[in-house]
Amino acid sequence: MTRAEYKRRRPSGTFYVFGSQVAMLRIAKLCKTLATVPPRKLFDLLSLDVTAGECVAIIGESGVGKSTLLNCISGLEPVSSGSIRVGDTELAGLGDDALSRLRRDRFGFVFQAFHVLPHLTLLQNVAVPLWLQGRHGAEAARCAQDMLERVGLGKRAGDWPANLSGGELQRVAIARALVHQPAVVLADEPTGNLDPARAMDVLDLLLTSIRKGRAAGVLVTHSRAAAQRADRVFELRQDGLVQVMASAQ
Ligand SMILES: Nc1ncnc2c1ncn2[C@@H]1O[C@H](COP(=O)(O)OP(=O)(O)OP(=O)(O)O)[C@@H](O)[C@H]1O
Ligand SMILES: [Mg+2]
Repeated sequence: MTRAEYKRRRPSGTFYVFGSQVAMLRIAKLCKTLATVPPRKLFDLLSLDVTAGECVAIIGESGVGKSTLLNCISGLEPVSSGSIRVGDTELAGLGDDALSRLRRDRFGFVFQAFHVLPHLTLLQNVAVPLWLQGRHGAEAARCAQDMLERVGLGKRAGDWPANLSGGELQRVAIARALVHQPAVVLADEPTGNLDPARAMDVLDLLLTSIRKGRAAGVLVTHSRAAAQRADRVFELRQDGLVQVMASAQ
């Protein structure tokens, strides 16, 4: 996409351009030391750029810090030093309210455990991010219905989560993560609770949705097969973030 095309699509967005690439998420020299005895360095000078419409996968041993990295990217956990930028917004220095607004408006989340709200219909679940932005009524319902159609659950909009399979629940969660057109989508083990066949369907849906939505996607997974569906694959190790596969597509 050219810079001019990008401006037309996201007129209020600000971005970084590397060649023809647009970095929607830019992590630079990130350090995180845990206040344990002795202190433990989780990341040291970790850097990663993710462009709009790109999905990178992060694999790594249990306990190496993958979930903590996602939490830092969304401002849920403080970092020791370094920079995280979403579009033109630098997270460092933002207060709790500003970080909450940033998460509400610019992030979408998909978790291993789905976290679909049991007392809301599928349509209502998908509409929640819009409601949080103060968008109620027919327009929110129409957007939520549209997202449910895209994940193949349009006809189930009035149904309840208790009636859905794990794969279907994760589809609802994907619709909810994308409905407000976030700049960044973070997915932590999104297929961890699904059987292998269902997992690949759901993963492909997630990646397609991220690419179509022109979000920057970061997918954490234990599955190398899942990771290979992403555009680039990194391994988080104790000595840093190492690219282990380029552009699988
Ligand atoms: N606030 C904290 N205080 C102390 N230790 C912490 C804190 N947060 C995370 N940890 C530790 O940091 C390490 C990384 O945890 P994290 O959950 O990010 O790992 P992970 O790579 O996501 O693992 P898994 O693949 O099992 O989900 C763990 O050893 C965890 O116990
Ligand atoms: Mg984890």
